[in-house]
Amino acid sequence: MPVITFANAKGGAGKTTAALILATELASRGHRITILDADPQRWISHWHEVSGRQRNIAVISEVSMASLQCHIRENRQTTDYFIIDLAGARDALVATAIGLSDHVMIPVQGCAMDARGAAHILELLKQLDEKAGIRINHSVVLTRMNSLVTTRAMSAIKALLAARGVAVLDTPIGERTAFRDIFDCGGTLYTMDAARVSNLDKACENARLFADEVLRLLPVRKRIATERGFFRTLQRAA
Ligand SMILES: Nc1ncnc2c1ncn2[C@@H]1O[C@H](COP(=O)(O)OP(=O)(O)O)[C@@H](O)[C@H]1O
Ligand SMILES: [Mg+2]
Repeated sequence: MPVITFANAKGGAGKTTAALILATELASRGHRITILDADPQRWISHWHEVSGRQRNIAVISEVSMASLQCHIRENRQTTDYFIIDLAGARDALVATAIGLSDHVMIPVQGCAMDARGAAHILELLKQLDEKAGIRINHSVVLTRMNSLVTTRAMSAIKALLAARGVAVLDTPIGERTAFRDIFDCGGTLYTMDAARVSNLDKACENARLFADEVLRLLPVRKRIATERGFFRTLQRAA
């Protein structure tokens, strides 16, 4: 049961949106998802309240540093994928979640390219690697891309990040009404009304490609790291 964490030290990067798109897409394919809502703004918990019971999705709110590992341990038998949504912060909870992850997704707004929040997370990942020998797979996912951004501009952004050794997903998350409205409507992209939401089919296609790519990045077997020293290192790195 891999753990996928969405992290960017800056708010507004598109973490919560990307996390929910991935969770609902995987759930609609029959995977059992547990979302750990570690964002004090509780957007995903709110989405869950609006949605009512969702097939294959459990949402755990009020996740703290102390409870995070318990939630994962207690739900591992009934979960295919854990998805953690973090606050736009760089604190001990963020570091702990990152340390427990199989893959860290770092959403960056494609057009703005304000990558400072992402740089904090990349720095944290580097410290974990260099100081504690803990190597966590991670990728940048460009979010809120509008359709006017050319393939050439995308390639330039990727080349820039690749030069720093950072992988960027081939699938950016587009700026779509459906990705905003899902938080008000509840449910999934597949339960939304195509007559009311513009380009819903394109949003669904985007979600499918995004989920396909994330699944390809995940390891077959989960790395298990639970020793006490490991957590002490994480807290020091935060
Ligand atoms: N792909 C997208 N398309 C349209 N709106 C988006 C998209 N991603 C994020 N937003 C909007 O941008 C704002 C910030 O996004 P959010 O996912 O909450 O970021 P974060 O969790 O990093 O703070 C929200 O109002 C959200 O609706
Ligand atoms: Mg958020």
